[in-house]
Amino acid sequence: MSRRNQTLGEFIIENQSSFKYTSGELSRLINSIRLAAKVVNHEVNKAGLVDILGAAGDTNVQGEDQQKLDVYANEKFIQTMTNRNIVCGIASEEEDDFISINSQDENHQNKYVVLIDPLDGSSNIDVNVSVGTIFSVYRRVTPVGTPVKIEDFLQKGINQVAAGYIIYGTSTMLVYTTGDGVNGFTLNPAIGSYYLSHPNMKFPENGQIYSVNEGNYIHFPKGIKDYIKYCQMEEGDRPYTSRYIGSLVSDFHRNMIKGGIYMYPKSSKASNGKLRLLYECNPMAFLAEQANGKASDGFNRIMEIEPTELHQRVPFICGSKNMVEKAEEFMRNAE
Ligand code: AHG
Ligand code: MN
Ligand code: MN
Repeated sequence: MSRRNQTLGEFIIENQSSFKYTSGELSRLINSIRLAAKVVNHEVNKAGLVDILGAAGDTNVQGEDQQKLDVYANEKFIQTMTNRNIVCGIASEEEDDFISINSQDENHQNKYVVLIDPLDGSSNIDVNVSVGTIFSVYRRVTPVGTPVKIEDFLQKGINQVAAGYIIYGTSTMLVYTTGDGVNGFTLNPAIGSYYLSHPNMKFPENGQIYSVNEGNYIHFPKGIKDYIKYCQMEEGDRPYTSRYIGSLVSDFHRNMIKGGIYMYPKSSKASNGKLRLLYECNPMAFLAEQANGKASDGFNRIMEIEPTELHQRVPFICGSKNMVEKAEEFMRNAE
């Protein structure tokens, strides 16, 4: 039973028995993500001070050179999951290849792999706008105890056992699903605990916000152009409002709460769009579906796409169910 004043720690313990394969391993994994997120949050919050704090010689207290925040976030998440012996493999936007983690302890061989976008919306850092972290969790398909292989990562989104994001916004939140709905926890920075602030999150079936980089309009396929015109038409509850932050996590989060659609379509410049299937689109698609929303590449369900490459891109349309279905209708009609 979830309670509003429940901490994330309490929530994880109380819900552990409802996981399909319960061994505590997934709970430990979520725990390590919430810990790394706190460290990254601290760093994100003082991003504007880096030049001032670094003025003494551009090194931090550990004597390390100041780093770009996405590299820092990448290291923190990987370190936390590696040091605590939590997963057997990690793939990250910031790493060309996946990382295999060999457990030294034979009694403690992990079965989960994590795929992560350590800092999403990184271009927003310099201008003090919300950024995020996205993660996706699978059970490995190769035998436990052996080094992980590429096929452990190239799994369809429908195989995900957990997915979520952290949003470093006006407040910091961790929002995740283990396949039993979506719950959102807000960090109380004074205490360092996350509290269940948004239980059982759901996309409204209809929305009035559309989020797309309209600067690329001229390069979009006809179906998307037609749908954008439809959003702007004066009829019924339209024209819709246009809102685009430029960090998927923030745009998704707002649309889930208020009702809306996010689109990063293919264009004449980028035949598969920009977003990455494995650590951006699939986790967001899992969250969307768990919250009554929908995620599509314009024609197919995102989570049923067979991945072929770690860093593969895919056109992405995601949000309130009826809005995504309408956009798909425009895509079909423009074929
Ligand atoms: P990242 O910072 O991890 O590279 O991701 C940025 C992504 C996504 O978060 C955002 O919605 C999109 O890129 C913005 O792209 P445009 O600037 O092309 O609109
Ligand atoms: Mn990203
Ligand atoms: Mn990123």
